[in-house]
Amino acid sequence: MATTQMVIQGAHIVDPSQHWDDVGNIYIENGVVHHLSCGELEAGWENAQIVKAQGLYAAPGFVDIHVHLRDPGFTYKEDIFTGSRAAAAGGVTSVVCMPNTKPVVDTPEVVSYIIDKASKADCHVYPVATITKGMKGEELSDFDALKAAGAVAVSDDGRPVANARLMQQAMELCMDKGIVVASHCEDLNIIHGGIIHKGAVSQKLGVPGMDRSSEDSVTAREIALAAATGTKIHICHVSTKGSVEWIRDAKARGVKVTAETAPHYFMMTDQLLLKEDADYRMNPPLREEADRMAILEAVRDGVIDVIATDHAPHSPEEKADFRKAPNGIVGLETSFAACMTSLVHPGIISLYGLVERMSTLPAKIMQLPAGTLKPGAAADVVLFDPQESWTVDPQALRSKARNTPFKGMTLKGRVKMTVLSGRTVFDIR
Ligand code: DOR
Ligand code: ZN
Repeated sequence: MATTQMVIQGAHIVDPSQHWDDVGNIYIENGVVHHLSCGELEAGWENAQIVKAQGLYAAPGFVDIHVHLRDPGFTYKEDIFTGSRAAAAGGVTSVVCMPNTKPVVDTPEVVSYIIDKASKADCHVYPVATITKGMKGEELSDFDALKAAGAVAVSDDGRPVANARLMQQAMELCMDKGIVVASHCEDLNIIHGGIIHKGAVSQKLGVPGMDRSSEDSVTAREIALAAATGTKIHICHVSTKGSVEWIRDAKARGVKVTAETAPHYFMMTDQLLLKEDADYRMNPPLREEADRMAILEAVRDGVIDVIATDHAPHSPEEKADFRKAPNGIVGLETSFAACMTSLVHPGIISLYGLVERMSTLPAKIMQLPAGTLKPGAAADVVLFDPQESWTVDPQALRSKARNTPFKGMTLKGRVKMTVLSGRTVFDIR
């Protein structure tokens, strides 16, 4: 095979995995990072495809560890190809996809289906398998077989594992096998039919609410289970001040807990539900200002390790009825810009800190070969303009779905180009 070369020239490269934060060039050969350097184009690369990137920033492609691709079974909402095009448009080059598909990802066959289809997609896709067979919460999945097929983690995301003993067994078995356990923390008895955060807004609208304690209590449980056995747990989509405090305390005590949140939890509150628009409904729900501030602080100080999206596409028909619509919002295409706007431009975290939270650390938590531009790594690169403003138009999304709560918002920071293993998968320069 002929050698293919690309040089991304003159970008400000931010790669926390090697403490790089300076203008330079990224030399790529046959889909792999060859090396980085400062200064002029090096001899021997004259025939490479040259991407002139002066004025742009470059970083290792983003790694989104909480995405619903809906494939197999719900491909009217999204499929692996459209979901990965949305990822590419968001600068995301690796996604970890959740198993609440149809069938659910509880057999090696479904894991293989996803991996095979994703081999032709515009981002790397790492499947999560279920913790319990059929996501029924009754019997553990066959972790050895699922891992052998390529699952990187297990979760019953979309639902909690109600039985604490089963959850603890999963944590113990997975620790031994090197599989990450990710928990959707929710007590469905407390939820009791709630559809938005329980508080003044739910009361005003007269709709059943989801009390914070539904999340807080299971976050606390997972931490207790991990602490008791010395195992690891990853907490998904943290939305409450209470969960933040449990995680802060657990980390201080040395419990092996990691956590993610999503941009909507530190940018929005349940006040938006007064619009009675299901595009603001997700699970966990938008909470109150005190929660939003607690999440922001936890992102700033690292108690919440990483930013994911919980990209959850639904069809416009499904989202039409405020009260009956399923929970979930899309996020892949807006996550970076949302974080630039609400975290970096206001000075809450640095750009370097954002790349850590969107690339380096999520790759580390899920043990993925991503989040780095070190020589030999896959040439997964995002190029962005931190200053460009744009307004989110749901109709312009690459996703099949339109259910974004960022609709109409003007965000500052824009992905301009995405390179996946040396191949350009998105380019609006
Ligand atoms: O809002 C959500 N949507 N939360 C979940 O936990 C599941 C997800 C989905 O699959 O739609
Ligand atoms: Zn979830």
